[in-house]
Amino acid sequence: MRIAHLSDPHFGTEVPEVVAALQAALPVLRPDAIVVSGDITQRARPAEFDAAARFVDSLPPVPKLLVPGNHDLPLFNLPLRLLLPDQGYRRVFGAPEQERHAGPLSFAGFDATLRWRHTRGDLQAAHVQSRMAAVGGGAALRIAVMHQPLHTALEEDRDECLLSAAAIADALAGADTDLVLSGHVHMPLLADTRSVFPRLRRHFVLSGAGTAVSHRIRSGAPNSFNLLDIDENCLRITASLHAFDAAAGRFMPATVRHYQRDADGWRAASPAENLSQL
Ligand SMILES: [Fe+2]
Ligand SMILES: [Fe+2]
Repeated sequence: MRIAHLSDPHFGTEVPEVVAALQAALPVLRPDAIVVSGDITQRARPAEFDAAARFVDSLPPVPKLLVPGNHDLPLFNLPLRLLLPDQGYRRVFGAPEQERHAGPLSFAGFDATLRWRHTRGDLQAAHVQSRMAAVGGGAALRIAVMHQPLHTALEEDRDECLLSAAAIADALAGADTDLVLSGHVHMPLLADTRSVFPRLRRHFVLSGAGTAVSHRIRSGAPNSFNLLDIDENCLRITASLHAFDAAAGRFMPATVRHYQRDADGWRAASPAENLSQL
């Protein structure tokens, strides 16, 4: 099974050339499910949501799960932000917290946005644990999707994590979560939880995706998405980062990491292979 993990397209700031490259890449990669982990739009404008919906509809016809990000709430229209913060998102994509199933994979999307805070996000641990337990019943792989991450690649981004990241990690581990997909910092991350949250009852894999198509890229992090390949027994995950190569005009695999499932959860099976340096 193959998951294409996209994030932070920020429609309203999309680069048409990169959108076209992604639309060309995904049918060739043949994912079984597609996730978009928030910041679908730049300013939650109706036209931005409409453009995002057209983009999502143009992708391969497989189960898709989206969650809202902080940019999907109106920033300047304070009454709307406080009273009906997810009105724009709901009009186009429906409820902000949904579930999807694809073969042995079960996905739960979480709305971590906070109407009172501009960028920070948070969740309730009991809510996370009960939804993961419900959605994952019998699933071979339990996957949680939330915009703000539990951990970041860069030290300087740590205050962009979920406010209750450690408690949420505990709740996810308590519900036997295997994979957590996030975005928000526009800086990719492929890691397991062993060094980040060493005391978890059971460890899981963190997939942080960069911005898929926005010009809001950061130094050292071009547009990218993550591809997660799960073997048929759900005992191994191969995670690869695909980065946009401006010279070639297409997405190219850049980094690959392997994870295996042990009795106490997931662990990295081998050092990262940096394909861009081969
Ligand atoms: Fe973003
Ligand atoms: Fe964000």
